[in-house]
Amino acid sequence: MKIGIIGAGNIGGNLTRRLTAIGHDVSVANSRGPHTLTALADETGATAVTAAEAVRGAELVVVTVPLKNVPDLPSGLLDAAADDVVVIDTNNYYPKERDGRIDAIEDGMPESRWTEQHLGHPVIKAFNGTYADDIVDKPRPHGDPERIALPVAGDDAAAKKTVRDLIDAMGFDTVDAGGIDDSWRQQPDTPVYGLRAGTEEVAKALAAASPERPQNFRA
Ligand SMILES: NC(=O)c1ccc[n+]([C@@H]2O[C@H](COP(=O)([O-])OP(=O)(O)OC[C@H]3O[C@@H](n4cnc5c(N)ncnc54)[C@H](OP(=O)(O)O)[C@@H]3O)[C@@H](O)[C@H]2O)c1
Repeated sequence: MKIGIIGAGNIGGNLTRRLTAIGHDVSVANSRGPHTLTALADETGATAVTAAEAVRGAELVVVTVPLKNVPDLPSGLLDAAADDVVVIDTNNYYPKERDGRIDAIEDGMPESRWTEQHLGHPVIKAFNGTYADDIVDKPRPHGDPERIALPVAGDDAAAKKTVRDLIDAMGFDTVDAGGIDDSWRQQPDTPVYGLRAGTEEVAKALAAASPERPQNFRA
């Protein structure tokens, strides 16, 4: 699949490593420019590009930048992607440490809904509660007792299936976490956030989440 990754930090870097390792055609971008990504490109075979170039013709785009930087992405960014492009949002709202106050999220809007509004495109929420190192350290074959499951939320059934199939091929099970209106169940400080467990425990953790935003994750 032709994949564009916007953000080349902890998560974007390791998604680049894993997705190239299983044979995808990956382009990766950061804010400082492709010349700062030559080491990652040499290591993985990915193509270092600008954000606009990462999206051009992509069948799948991953947005994995600090949440506060989402509004900095060029408007209409996704217009140049393939028809029916699937967009993965890995982001989290860390108001105290990083992002500052975002009123809509403080007022209860799911973080991925806010991101969708800025991107002008629906997203599938995935990897937001996954430790970055686990993307390269924890893939396991089907049936392995150590294979972990990741929650995946989104409103578009076809796009969600594409993402779940991709994550399956990466070496992880998935659990359908509902639509974006339900995606608070996997936001920071919920029971599933950072949980390394199989499908049953992940489903239980999603069900046990409280809709109250935890104090630690309020501005
Ligand atoms: N770290 C984790 O384990 C983890 C786990 C799950 C989810 N997350 C979430 O996933 C997101 C990414 O986390 P991270 O830890 O990978 O962040 P990070 O290490 O700080 O990396 C952020 C990346 O985003 C790039 N970026 C920032 N603004 C950009 C822009 N306007 N255009 C293009 N690229 C831009 C940065 O590029 P420059 O360096 O060039 O500025 C950098 O490559 C965050 O929302 C985070 O909360 C993180």
